[in-house]
Amino acid sequence: MALILGIESSCDETAAAVIDSNGETLAARIVAQRIASQDEMHRPYGGVVPEIAARAHVEVLGPMIGQVLADAGLTLDDMDAIAATAGPGLIGGVMVGLVTGKALAMAADKPLIAINHLEGHALSPRLAEPSLAYPYLLLLVSGGHCQILEVRGLGDYRRLATTIDDALGEAFDKTAKILGLGYPGGPAVERLAREGDAKAVPLPRPLVGSGEPHFSFAGLKSAVMRAKQAGTHRNADIAASFQQAALDCVIDRTRIALGACGPVTALVVAGGVAANAALRGALEELASGAGLPLIAPPPKLCTDNAAMIGWAGAERLAMGYSDALDVAARPRWPLDANAAPVRGAGVKG
Ligand code: KG4
Ligand code: ZN
Repeated sequence: MALILGIESSCDETAAAVIDSNGETLAARIVAQRIASQDEMHRPYGGVVPEIAARAHVEVLGPMIGQVLADAGLTLDDMDAIAATAGPGLIGGVMVGLVTGKALAMAADKPLIAINHLEGHALSPRLAEPSLAYPYLLLLVSGGHCQILEVRGLGDYRRLATTIDDALGEAFDKTAKILGLGYPGGPAVERLAREGDAKAVPLPRPLVGSGEPHFSFAGLKSAVMRAKQAGTHRNADIAASFQQAALDCVIDRTRIALGACGPVTALVVAGGVAANAALRGALEELASGAGLPLIAPPPKLCTDNAAMIGWAGAERLAMGYSDALDVAARPRWPLDANAAPVRGAGVKG
């Protein structure tokens, strides 16, 4: 059995976890995990402030690692490897976690595994669902990323779609800001949308029906802004109409990708927005129409966490991969380095 210490600090969650790669269920695989959200610190600014995030990681991470090992009843010496997020993300925070991982690996003489945060999200459904086999079609939707990837194997990703402007989570966050719902916006928009009429506000579905494989949400966001400024709609109706328009876009793009990929075992959704119940419902319908299961990790594993980083480390360790202690932190790190740049691409790191 392999025990992995996972460390995550690429955005506004500080997290540490101990993973047992031989666990046969999700509960057995996550021996212990802790997450400290920085939501309160960033709320006054309506978004993540990188310097505040990095400083908070510095304060919280060291003691948290001690606590999570104590929760597991284990010590650093019991670990088989240390897996830390090495990018992409806010570089100050990434460096805090990666340098901590390097120091622990050096002190305890353990292998270091530098994890791509996006690979953590991409493999999280395999942590949650032991039967999920490669290859699968992955919709990866978070605050910084919006991609559809064919996951052919560990480290073997083909990007079929990305966003030419905003990520889906970013569209939720901006809509929340326009509606005065605060930060983080996704869960607040979803809650308010339940009380609204999704047909009340006519909103565009950018690129739907165009055959273009990529995402675009900037036009939808502007339309939400105009609807709010018109002053004639209830916030709940705007939230519901926005969510429906965004989901229509996602379903249309995912349908195109299902037609463009090779044979797959499942449709899989991961990343923070995968916590959205309406999105899960719509994808469930699409998957069953295509004769595929939909695999979605539990909402707590969809948003940033260290269990997914530890799990990606476990998969890498099993393949014999580890990294040198001088491995660099990377603010940008695409999963498919061969993917062609898209028109007007402004993909966030
Ligand atoms: O994966 P994640 O925790 O961090 C990034 O790597 O970006 O994703 C955070 C994003 C935020 O944009 C947040 O608003 C969104 O996921 N999100 C949601 C929901 N929960 C989180 N969006 C829509 N509905 C939700 N329930
Ligand atoms: Zn993330």
